[in-house]
Amino acid sequence: MDGQPPAPYGKKLKTKPQTAARREDEDLRASDDIAAFAGCHMISPRFEHDRSAGAPCFHREFYLVEQVASAVLSITAFGLVHVELNGSVAIDDVLAPGWTDYRHRLMYSTYDLSGLIRLGENRLEIMLGNGWYRGQLGRPSRRDLYGERLGLLASLTITFVNGETLTIKTDESWNARSSHVTRDDLYDGCVMDFRSRPRQLGVEALEFDAVTLEKQAFPGIAVTENIVGSPCFRGRDGPIIYDFGQNVVGWVRLKIKPQRCERTIVVRHAEVLEDDKLSLRPLRAAKATDIYHLTASGPTQIEPRFTFHGFRYASIDGVDPANIERVEAIVIGSKLPRRGWFSCSDPLLNRLHENVVWSMRGNFLGIPTDCPQRDERLGWTADIQVFAPTASFLYDCTDLLDSWLRELSAAQLPDGSVPVIIPDIYRRPSVATAGWGDAAVVVPWVLYQFTGRAKLLETHFETMRKWLARIERATGPELIWRGGHQYGDWLDPTAPPDDPASAMTDRNLVATACFYRSAKIAADIASLLGLTDDARKYSDLRNGIFDRFQNEFVTRAGKLTSETQAAYAIVLTYGLLLPNQIQKAGERLADLVRKAAFTIGTGFLGTPVILDALCMTGHERVAMRLINQTECPSWLYPVKMGATTMWERWDSLLPTGEVNPGEMTSFNHYAFGAVADWMHRVIAGLRSEQIGWKAFSVTPPLWTGLTFAEASVESPAGTISSRWEYFDGVLSLKVLVPEGVSARIHLPGETIDLPAGGHAIERAVATERGLQGEPTVLTTRHAIDNLEIWTAVEDAVRQYRPDWSFQQIARAAFHYLDLPLPDLSRCVGLSIPTAEEDALRATLTALSAEVTTQALMGCHISEA
Ligand code: BGC
Repeated sequence: MDGQPPAPYGKKLKTKPQTAARREDEDLRASDDIAAFAGCHMISPRFEHDRSAGAPCFHREFYLVEQVASAVLSITAFGLVHVELNGSVAIDDVLAPGWTDYRHRLMYSTYDLSGLIRLGENRLEIMLGNGWYRGQLGRPSRRDLYGERLGLLASLTITFVNGETLTIKTDESWNARSSHVTRDDLYDGCVMDFRSRPRQLGVEALEFDAVTLEKQAFPGIAVTENIVGSPCFRGRDGPIIYDFGQNVVGWVRLKIKPQRCERTIVVRHAEVLEDDKLSLRPLRAAKATDIYHLTASGPTQIEPRFTFHGFRYASIDGVDPANIERVEAIVIGSKLPRRGWFSCSDPLLNRLHENVVWSMRGNFLGIPTDCPQRDERLGWTADIQVFAPTASFLYDCTDLLDSWLRELSAAQLPDGSVPVIIPDIYRRPSVATAGWGDAAVVVPWVLYQFTGRAKLLETHFETMRKWLARIERATGPELIWRGGHQYGDWLDPTAPPDDPASAMTDRNLVATACFYRSAKIAADIASLLGLTDDARKYSDLRNGIFDRFQNEFVTRAGKLTSETQAAYAIVLTYGLLLPNQIQKAGERLADLVRKAAFTIGTGFLGTPVILDALCMTGHERVAMRLINQTECPSWLYPVKMGATTMWERWDSLLPTGEVNPGEMTSFNHYAFGAVADWMHRVIAGLRSEQIGWKAFSVTPPLWTGLTFAEASVESPAGTISSRWEYFDGVLSLKVLVPEGVSARIHLPGETIDLPAGGHAIERAVATERGLQGEPTVLTTRHAIDNLEIWTAVEDAVRQYRPDWSFQQIARAAFHYLDLPLPDLSRCVGLSIPTAEEDALRATLTALSAEVTTQALMGCHISEA
């Protein structure tokens, strides 16, 4: 202990007189949170050493003479903490205390250190990193967003077997020295210099407002997995590249043989390779590089501190590959309990689902973020708004999102504007963006639906109210939300690489639809909370928006002014149509999907709802064709290209293998993964039917072409699972129903209510109904909905139009959808000799005849 004999603490402890400049009344106050740190000071290295010292390391020695029963550390910081007790890492969490707007909330956690404390001498060491507090954030990057000085607040309470206690508190009696972490930044990475000698820094107390303290109510960020990498490339004179086989979030731990000389090792990271090199452009300004200056006797196991990267590949420079013993990806994420699982008979769909899970694992880091690799990694509101139903099913993230929503409330501007990212680092005045700000309404609603915790609605209702008032001011009595800072159906596949907001769908339509949905949810919440006036007000508002919306964007027959997949999907699922318009709109949507050759045409807002819109209007097979598509753009295209996480763009990697030229190209963005929610509800057929899963239904979808699908969920009402299998005309179903939960099973022609317990049901059923009635006419629409038949049609067309892509054929077919299939021959007829057109007609006629006959025997043809 700084050259002095250790003071004997424990029974004989005499606390040192406080050297703090702060007076008693400035010390922490007496709520529970404040009490946890009573008498502690927020300590910092002395001003003159603060920034130059890299990551400062505080330490405190103490001597115990009594048997210890327990040792509990409460800790938080302006910055990030790394804690060691007696030379061992003492807390599992990394990047603690996570990210909040530290001006309003500073979260602390408590850790049990009993296993590391010992009789006699003890040494507690706590290193501080810049993290979100004063490292780079946003673009262009800003530093010191919350303050310029790092600070540590900690209290270690030791309870002895004899019942007495001792608390070690941060104050100016602590020591600080510089460490071998000479630079640390979330975006740029970490520099460790083992050649440098520690310098004493001195300690002083910082002013800080103890009322901001709050105990973290959800699991911290921690290491969740280690993946050993294998070398994949060594360019000429270039560094060796390791592949971890999975795009992850975390860092690289390197084990090397003992070195006999000084050396500098550089580790760089990337999500994809281009020309056998790391593709660094998508990282934009983030350096994502860890550098180690090692001495001859330096450590043989190295890993960075206070940073994280998004990567599948890492290059290692500065050490002979023969001297590398092991390279591991240390995977981190919020340590949330897993809640839901899914699997089916199609490996591509399973991989898609797995990619969604991985993107959630990597992007839930204390808050829900957009991406983990570039100079961004922010809490974008729309991303979680669309992903919340999937997130709630996959992991128990209620408390984490509740905490994030409280950040949102704190960041809401007095005029009701909701910033597009939370915590709000841009601090712009008065921004209101549809689909983004609506997270304030949608996310609490989704959490409530899953958990039944009405308290969530109470807590966040005021924020919703202010948000809706903000939109009302933007729309005026017209109730149509025009213009302003809108991202629309962000990143639909037609948006040019450099203009992601330039989607096909009318932004005013999207914005007004979002307004409608939020008003509708607010009306439901208000009546649920017994707020009669609000319930009336918001249902009037909802009805008003509905009428204006109809006037402005819908024809009487149900056609939309914006003829896009997203527009129809949103309008149908948000409930913006009259009953007599729904079917027409559904048909129109299905035709647009057919016209696009079953490639996706939606962006962030249309994507989560398009499959539901198709299914609710009886176009399940079109939905299935859409999700089964492997050509670009589609959900399975990235899977086919080897993706192991969800991509930000449908074509983050172009079909040529090049990275999308847009400067915003992440390979780990969960927004399009919102489709997993549909996979659970529709492919597995498992759906909650009452708030908090008090009732659920299972509907095996026999139109999928799959042979089985299953899902299970640790619901608040207990473990629920279901698995359907279809083989040889027999449908088998296994369902687990917890006590107190009602389950309804929908089988073809039959509905069964099941009591609690495990159930196995078997029925003989025909998968498909074939063509209805006497199948006299096979139309082009019938044909295009069936992959097998359509492949034969495409082959036939290509005999005469060999250079037509699958999209061109679908576009041509669009005009013949209602006609008998042989009439499609005309689509190639204008510029080719009639004889060839006739020949194509003959082929299509023969095909129709064959299909119609087969249909009677059970071939897959969609119902008329
Ligand atoms: C983020 C998105 C976000 C969008 C909105 C992007 O840079 O990564 O996910 O929603 O900006 O502008």
